[in-house]
Amino acid sequence: MMRTTRLLALSIALVGAALACASPALAADGITRGTIYHDGPDNRYLLGGDWLFRLDPTGVGQAQRFQRQTTTDGWTKTSVPNAWNAGDNSVASMTGTTGWYRKDFHLPDRRARMDWLVRFESVNYRSKVWLNGTPIGHNTGAYLPWDLRLPRSLLKRQGTNRLVIRVDNRRLRTDFPPSGLTGSGDPAGGWWNYGGLLREVYLQRVDKIDITGMLVRPDLPCATCDASVLARIVVRNYGDDSSRVRITGSFGGKKLALGTKAVGSKDFATFDARIKVRKPRLWSPADPQLYDAKFTVRVGDHKVLGYELHSGIRSIKNVGGHLTLNGRPLNVRGVGIHEDDPVKGFAIDSARRAQIIAQAKELGATVIRSHYPLHPEMYELADREGLLIWSEIPVYSVKTQYLKRLAVRKLAARELEDNIRANQNHPSIMLWSIGNELSARPGPVQQNYIERAVRQAKALDPSRPIALAVAGYPSAGCRPQYALLDVIGVNDYFGWYPGPNGQIADRDALSDFLDSMRACYPNKAIFVSEFGAEANRDGPVEEKGTYQFQQDFVNFHLGIYATKPWLSGAIYWALQEFRVRPNWDGGNPHPDSPIHEKGLLRFLDGSKKPAWFDVQRNFAATNQLGLG
Ligand code: GCU
Repeated sequence: MMRTTRLLALSIALVGAALACASPALAADGITRGTIYHDGPDNRYLLGGDWLFRLDPTGVGQAQRFQRQTTTDGWTKTSVPNAWNAGDNSVASMTGTTGWYRKDFHLPDRRARMDWLVRFESVNYRSKVWLNGTPIGHNTGAYLPWDLRLPRSLLKRQGTNRLVIRVDNRRLRTDFPPSGLTGSGDPAGGWWNYGGLLREVYLQRVDKIDITGMLVRPDLPCATCDASVLARIVVRNYGDDSSRVRITGSFGGKKLALGTKAVGSKDFATFDARIKVRKPRLWSPADPQLYDAKFTVRVGDHKVLGYELHSGIRSIKNVGGHLTLNGRPLNVRGVGIHEDDPVKGFAIDSARRAQIIAQAKELGATVIRSHYPLHPEMYELADREGLLIWSEIPVYSVKTQYLKRLAVRKLAARELEDNIRANQNHPSIMLWSIGNELSARPGPVQQNYIERAVRQAKALDPSRPIALAVAGYPSAGCRPQYALLDVIGVNDYFGWYPGPNGQIADRDALSDFLDSMRACYPNKAIFVSEFGAEANRDGPVEEKGTYQFQQDFVNFHLGIYATKPWLSGAIYWALQEFRVRPNWDGGNPHPDSPIHEKGLLRFLDGSKKPAWFDVQRNFAATNQLGLG
């Protein structure tokens, strides 16, 4: 009898679920359960399908009108992710403007007890959000996820809800990356200023309890030691009364006891568990072993949330001035990347992400670097494919006079914290980088920035080294301001750019310069975080911008690195060409602005330049993982 009742209940539930899936309103809204990547909670719904967009720099104050609008007049159909200015290479496009997005949708689950959040994976740059005509929040900064609660009082359980988002990508000097002007009066910047909802938007359903923090951190004291894994989960009670919350979990199939706690209304609670993993299978680029970590959150017997992620057991440490992975000294080779695409700009899709990772692997890279936090799926691909990641926040060439400002430092600290919290569970991430090319002659302002950032990052994540990428200039000398860093990345353009007073014009000065960096920082791990030369044509080997020059350049630089056994790695800039800024020449006498052409692959068709094969040969011949 009992069994029959259960079966009946189950079949009713299944029919209900099937009906919910088939709901014409939902299908029309383009809402699908789940995320396009794998790791994370199971309560998200992709807000896909048709969106509406309009460019409207004068649109301030129009949100209410947009809300009342019963037609789609003035809007064009689009899909999200979207970079509204992909393919527009004008100065105005780089400078930025204001765009509006609108999405009309029905809740995928109409039950009254559910709370709802909207989650944005990356919006460039300033955004303000309205639900059904009322502002519900705003955000500043791209490349990191953020969410807003959809207030119950505004949400329509049955009818159509309207989400309107104003996105302003006009850059300021205090933004990451900052605006500025080049010598020729064009907007500065290290990559194209794509405006829009650059990554996916999700609805997140909260059945009273949500997970707001997830940490799974394996600790491996030595390569042959047992590992100890810490799981720390922060939950939040959205409900109006206290709840007894129970979390169960597993790591690689072994049970994790996280326990039960009473969590007060609107309160947070932290659940901790630690287990030992004997004889762990270690993660490394040569053998990227992953452990499945799963969690279930219950209130009483009722499951409210599931969460799954993939972890890896490995250790990354600076040992006596050399970065080691699982106790072995690294000498990795790799490439810098941008998430750019000729048609979609930064709003790339899964196929393009898989392609970038596959290209890096084909080249023989074991490390990748970008100037900003990547799409979550990129980290998962890197975890699976065995690529280390130099993870950086876009505190990119920020001038000292702006770095000095409290608001700028606060935003930098928030980005660092958000990057660590959002991405810390990925074994591929080998270090946290706090910026790129700040003043090469740091003073007290930069020193203060570095010290605060290092302390903050270490407090959040004591398991990873902290790095900064600096412009490689001999005149900078030894800098005591770098004292707290574990890793220094040197951007090496010897023999390409002249540098201030021509100090890096001669490539023959590179070897001595690298030795002088080593002498300055004997206890820090040193990487070449960039080296590269533009190439877009055949021609004499002595002529900058030719394929032959680029080949000679990579062979020379890689040859010098091979003579520095103390180096922890070298990263070519970049894997593929990308849009950078109007009137870019990048040191090439015959440039193809706005394309940055130091890439080994061409922008439009991804075809290989001759230097690709030189780099590939060299990477293959290098003992990158210290296995020999
Ligand atoms: C800088 C910067 C890169 C840039 C490169 C170049 O070092 O970090 O983002 O593309 O130089 O000039 O090509």
